[in-house]
Amino acid sequence: MSNLKWWQSAVFYQIYPRSFADGNGDGIGDFKGITEKLNYIAALGVDALWLSPHFPSPNWDCGYDISDYCNVAPEYGSMEDFKVFLDESHKRNIRVILDLVLNHTSDEHSWFVESRSSRDNPKADWYVWADTPPNNWQSCFDGEAWTYVPERDQYYYHYFMKQQPDLNWHNPEVKKAMWDAARFWLDLGVDGFRLDALGTIFEDPNLTPHTVPMTLAELRRFSDLAKTPEELELKDKYWNDMFKNQWGQLGVHDLMKELRAILDEYEGDRMLVGEDDNIDYMGNGNDELHLVFNFPLMRTETITPDHVRENQTERLKQLDALSAKKGWPCNTLGNHDCSRIYTRYGNKLHHAELARLHAALVLTMKGTAFLYNGEEIGMTDHMLTDISQVKDTMGSWYYHAIVTDMGVHPDEAMARTAEMTRDKNRTPMQWTSHPNAGFSPMEVSTWLPVNPNYKNGINVRDQEQNPSSLLHYYKHLLRVRKSSSALKEGEYIPLHTEQKDYFAFVRQADKQSVLVILNFSNNHLELNFSTTKEVGGSNLKILFSSAERRIEEISSTLKLNPFEVFIAEVVHSK
Ligand code: GLC
Repeated sequence: MSNLKWWQSAVFYQIYPRSFADGNGDGIGDFKGITEKLNYIAALGVDALWLSPHFPSPNWDCGYDISDYCNVAPEYGSMEDFKVFLDESHKRNIRVILDLVLNHTSDEHSWFVESRSSRDNPKADWYVWADTPPNNWQSCFDGEAWTYVPERDQYYYHYFMKQQPDLNWHNPEVKKAMWDAARFWLDLGVDGFRLDALGTIFEDPNLTPHTVPMTLAELRRFSDLAKTPEELELKDKYWNDMFKNQWGQLGVHDLMKELRAILDEYEGDRMLVGEDDNIDYMGNGNDELHLVFNFPLMRTETITPDHVRENQTERLKQLDALSAKKGWPCNTLGNHDCSRIYTRYGNKLHHAELARLHAALVLTMKGTAFLYNGEEIGMTDHMLTDISQVKDTMGSWYYHAIVTDMGVHPDEAMARTAEMTRDKNRTPMQWTSHPNAGFSPMEVSTWLPVNPNYKNGINVRDQEQNPSSLLHYYKHLLRVRKSSSALKEGEYIPLHTEQKDYFAFVRQADKQSVLVILNFSNNHLELNFSTTKEVGGSNLKILFSSAERRIEEISSTLKLNPFEVFIAEVVHSK
């Protein structure tokens, strides 16, 4: 029996509720739709769901601006619909974690409505207020970080949009209210939370101004146009310098300890995963977050064997060094905030092969894995062409800022906006080859346009019927992972670490050793593992090969096809 907790061996699947499945035919995803698709999710073979925010929201930031933490957005259904969804998920052994947004609420939340009404109401101190803007801080979404409220003749602070005022976490009443909201969902039986933007909860108490000689819009524009190595380096420096005083403050640790203690009161190993890559948020390994994401893995233009090896060496070393208990890794390559894996890490010639390689990477590396809905059928970014289609407010804000204030031509501005807006990777899930991709009835206008490539086989139904589809490939890999103790819990041992063309490693558990080779190149490779301690002298029992090899057992000399994914159990000779 494995000693792992459920969230360690799990593969999570992120559902973006607005775009997953439209059960009532209004062009927007909902709980009825999600519940109807639970058999699909179970058949895919994932163990848990992370649901992006499903709470009432005016949707300036697509649900990340919450106006009621203990309710369900009416467009997604009722509380009863949520309970049915949760229950039906649990019946299928699928756990569910929710998104908990701690840093800010919507400006339409009753807490903020009250807070902004006067300087002496009971919630006057629930947000971050100042008489005059105390510095030049920027909001990372829409310009100035301080917005004026005439009723108070004061300014409030917002790290994100002005419709997302930052809560004042120094106020114990705020803490209590938010922990009550967390308990509300834990009492209903949810299995944990993904913590949104936790690094932004506190700001530098000295309110130190940033030193970048630009506004946010100017910096974005500068980044768009940066080409030379110097400009690219300067751009990164500016982004860091502009925001470094507005996040990463130590106070977050005490909050995480409190929240962890609340989760630990509940049965069933409830869990927390932070939207941050800072391993310090795991505390001593036992007293803060259970997981943080390995974002450095995805912070690269191209995934190469060297990049992955360096990433693993560094992350695993840090995780192992936690003082009370080793930390557990958590890997992902995509989510609702970034370009889709298929588009982002593809190259013009080998998109399909690379998508398979990257899926295999995330599912064989040591750690919990997170997938983003649609990646299993190879959904791609969809570029919007008209500003009226843009729903991601940070995109429309940028468009208007550069057209109006900088005189950029609207066509160019639109092309830039389509690239930077997160709408491109949030389009409706493609279920069939019917109009609207089977997401909504054909006559309905969906909340974001459907990517027309659903007609070309990028949809669930077509791929279910095609044994060589990406969907079948994901299902197969997920089955292999599930039935292998080494892939779920084994230690990571890198092999042939100088090689640029392929990434080879062993996952070694007590009862099983598995060799994984990912050929990142377009070349046939002939590999020899006979002198490799972990593999030499053993037979290899193939568990999975993207080249669909028939042979069951082979020796330690191997011929690999271009871009092949090869997974085999190392069977030591008696
Ligand atoms: C997180 C979310 C992102 C959101 C932001 C503000 O980064 O993933 O979608 O816009 O926080 O809540």
